[in-house]
Amino acid sequence: MVKIAPSILSADFAALGDDIERVEGGGADQLHVDVMDGRFVPNLTIGPVVVAAIHKRTRLPLDVHLMIVEPERFIAEFVAAGADMVTVHAEACPHLSRTLAQIRELGAKAGVALNPSTPPDALRYVLDDLDLVLVMSVNPGFGGQAFIPGAHRKIRELKALLGDRPVEVSVDGGVKAGLAKSLVQDGATTLVAGSAIFGAADPAAAVRALRDAAR
Ligand code: DX5
Ligand code: ZN
Repeated sequence: MVKIAPSILSADFAALGDDIERVEGGGADQLHVDVMDGRFVPNLTIGPVVVAAIHKRTRLPLDVHLMIVEPERFIAEFVAAGADMVTVHAEACPHLSRTLAQIRELGAKAGVALNPSTPPDALRYVLDDLDLVLVMSVNPGFGGQAFIPGAHRKIRELKALLGDRPVEVSVDGGVKAGLAKSLVQDGATTLVAGSAIFGAADPAAAVRALRDAAR
């Protein structure tokens, strides 16, 4: 069954614990945490102290998406703060193989995110070093952007490249209930959604609606 990962970027940061409780009640599988540095992407968000605070408040696995330059400088801090999965951008890692090994050595699952312009082939020589791939279906930096349709083909190409390896394929950006079914058919195993969940009047119902739409 597809996993649903609410992105807290669109939550109410002044009432984050309450928003997390809502999506947990709706059956979310993990929480997606967007970390931005104002360098790799033109926006600033949160750091390890907020991840640690979230970790205390929820039993859901934390899927930490690092949209930062030189992510290797902060991986240990995010794992210590409670990150279960750490995803770095291929475009930000000249030594991707080493960075993925670093994440696994710290005991977390290792993920790579691909910007819309980055081909799946960027992963060809690290396929066995990965636990998840995050296919960006928007240019990262902001919630609430429109889904870029090229992600469908990219997910299919990525699945072919992965073969039977047990790697999660997550899709992030502009995901709405109307896209859920086709994305799962393409091969997505996790749907990340921010505005579609926290922008809804009832975030718990929005989690269920996404899951139902994916069936
Ligand atoms: C974008 C982030 C996404 C974002 C998704 O840079 O990586 O996780 O929060 O938000 P929506 O679902 O609103 O596009
Ligand atoms: Zn994200």
